[in-house]
Amino acid sequence: MTVTDTLLAAQEEHFARLDRVLPPAPAPEPGEVINAALPDGTRVAAVVARQTVSPGMPSWLWSAADTYELQPLVGTTGAAGMDAVLRAFRHWLDRVGDRGVDTAATVVWPSRDVDCTRVFLDHGLQPLTVTAVRRPTTVRPPALTVNVRPALASDEDAVVELAMAEVRFSAKVGAAIVRPEAEQMRRASVAGRLGMNDDVWVAERDGVVVGLAETGIIANTPVTKTSRQLPIGLWGYVNCLSVLPGARGAGIGQQLMAVVHNHFAGHRTVGYFLHYNPPNPLSSVFWPRQGYRPLWTQWEVRPAGALR
Ligand SMILES: CC(C)(COP(=O)(O)OP(=O)(O)OC[C@H]1O[C@@H](n2cnc3c(N)ncnc32)[C@H](O)[C@@H]1OP(=O)(O)O)[C@@H](O)C(=O)NCCC(=O)NCCS
Repeated sequence: MTVTDTLLAAQEEHFARLDRVLPPAPAPEPGEVINAALPDGTRVAAVVARQTVSPGMPSWLWSAADTYELQPLVGTTGAAGMDAVLRAFRHWLDRVGDRGVDTAATVVWPSRDVDCTRVFLDHGLQPLTVTAVRRPTTVRPPALTVNVRPALASDEDAVVELAMAEVRFSAKVGAAIVRPEAEQMRRASVAGRLGMNDDVWVAERDGVVVGLAETGIIANTPVTKTSRQLPIGLWGYVNCLSVLPGARGAGIGQQLMAVVHNHFAGHRTVGYFLHYNPPNPLSSVFWPRQGYRPLWTQWEVRPAGALR
């Protein structure tokens, strides 16, 4: 067994103890290996996986153009091991040089590993995004004040306006970036789907569309990227929930989600998941009230050179 295999096996046990919903600890993706040692000589490692995104790719609207993701292999060494690999990561960034403003350094780690939380904060990382999960239960529909229905092709402009309201709001309080291509990209991502399936839902009040839920049923298999974060199976996914600014706080989001959750349940999903930004004062309250809780936290600092 190599040091890496031993660390990964220990990390698997650690993750299983931390949170029963986590899948087996994933092996690092291809990238540059970083080695570090604790004062007592214990060896730890990490891989720096680099992701480059460009206009047209969905993540262009919520991530830096260049992301250096540290994928730690720290086994059961906890805060000490995480501190060692983050120090080594800082030195690695110094060596590769400053890559400019549109860059990020990230670590995606189980939210419940609170010993490491202190270490991430001390290295200047922010808990910018969480992957949150919810059990696949049905909900009793609340009293309806809006008509919730699948979006039609004729709703395209209203859907794009709501999607852009979400991008603009999330750019103030989280990971999103209002790129020049944002509106065109959001339009392209929904245009072909409206009226074709029941993934995009709108809430209508007095004939006016005031809310949007863009969702999907995701088959999470061993070869899909989501298998790094979620147990294998069929998952309900919420990509975007948005209510027009003047209509928020009146139960419309809740009514949309009651329909969406019951729709997911009809597909025999194993759970529901989504991403939200902890600094978002609306979604960070709304989603836990809807039954979601953090599974993974994406710790992030932009630009990458700001890592401490
Ligand atoms: C997050 C967001 C979609 C929530 O939608 P919303 O319609 O404002 O949410 P709701 O009104 O359904 O829920 C908010 C609270 O208001 C309550 N509420 C207020 N007036 C109400 C009424 N007349 N009837 C029912 N509920 C009411 C809801 O019960 C809920 O409280 P609870 O969770 O304690 O039950 C919306 O605030 C939004 O668009 N935010 C900006 C974009 C964003 O952050 N999107 C999410 C990104 S992950």
